[in-house]
Amino acid sequence: MASNNGKPYINCKNVVKAYTVDDHEIVALRGIDFTMQRGEMVAIVGPSGAGKSSLLNLLGGLDTPTAGRLTVGDFNLLDLNKSKLADYRLRQIGFVWQQVGRNLLQHRSALQNVTLPMMLADVGWRQRARRARELLEAVGMTEHMHKRPPQLSGGQQQRAAIAVALANRPGLLLADEPTGALDQKSAVQVMALIADLRERYGLTILMVTHDMGMAAYADRTLTLRDGALGQDLTQDAQAMPVLEADGRIQLPAAVRSHLEKAARIAVEVRPEGVLLRPEQAAEEHTEAALQNILTGERPGNGRRRWFRRGVRQKGSGA
Ligand SMILES: Nc1ncnc2c1ncn2[C@@H]1O[C@H](COP(=O)(O)OP(=O)(O)OP(=O)(O)O)[C@@H](O)[C@H]1O
Ligand SMILES: [Mg+2]
Repeated sequence: MASNNGKPYINCKNVVKAYTVDDHEIVALRGIDFTMQRGEMVAIVGPSGAGKSSLLNLLGGLDTPTAGRLTVGDFNLLDLNKSKLADYRLRQIGFVWQQVGRNLLQHRSALQNVTLPMMLADVGWRQRARRARELLEAVGMTEHMHKRPPQLSGGQQQRAAIAVALANRPGLLLADEPTGALDQKSAVQVMALIADLRERYGLTILMVTHDMGMAAYADRTLTLRDGALGQDLTQDAQAMPVLEADGRIQLPAAVRSHLEKAARIAVEVRPEGVLLRPEQAAEEHTEAALQNILTGERPGNGRRRWFRRGVRQKGSGA
């Protein structure tokens, strides 16, 4: 692939993905912006339904965005027709899925699984055989290469799957919870292998995980919730927050501006860290409720409940 002169390898600009189910729309991604440099490894973490797989599917050309701009290397993914997209998937992208069974054809040996994508890409048999053996050796599967998936452990199957993903020398490896179905020991081995292959083959890697231990292998972590990416506001080394012994934390100005108007700050401990969320003041609830009473929009006991809650919280001095 041509060099990209300092341009990001992945450029995702205001990407929206909506699915239509029956009569209604589900917006899985609400304007995603991010870039990745060639050779980078990035982890995406976020709760179930956040849109992680949707994003990977778009990058892998399995699906197309509803709106926005999306380029990977020299490919503008919104410009490719069906057959060009299929070719892009075959040659530019390697996939590894969480469901071990989805990665390999069950009735073929590990070796045959690795040669298959090369057959589809019209690679000559001599080269196919050489490359498949090299890859299976790289993932530590030489002695198991003639076994079919049911004869392999979960970890061995994922290692074979990685070899399959790399068969056509893709630039980008997309891994959707590659260690999600593995025990801890196999998971660590698979992650160490992915990190190793990244160096060896100069791969760019985007990986979804629920496990912060696995995310630690990446250069950086993106958080995704409700179809939107979290924004890292602490890139400036001067502005790094420091936690003091008494629990006080000084936040950089960019972060403060998101919180200072809030009357209360909710603190939520999440697998990916600690979330500080601005919350509306009880007084504001009361004010809104009063406004509704005046305009007659919230009839009956709803009015009472709002009012009482406001008074009690005010009294508690929170
Ligand atoms: N093919 C589809 N058709 C309709 N809705 C879909 C489709 N794929 C995903 N969605 C919806 O889009 C949202 C995001 O789904 P997605 O699978 O991307 O989440 P995820 O972050 O990968 O979740 P998980 O951690 O459970 O795998 C969800 O509300 C989901 O129901
Ligand atoms: Mg998913």
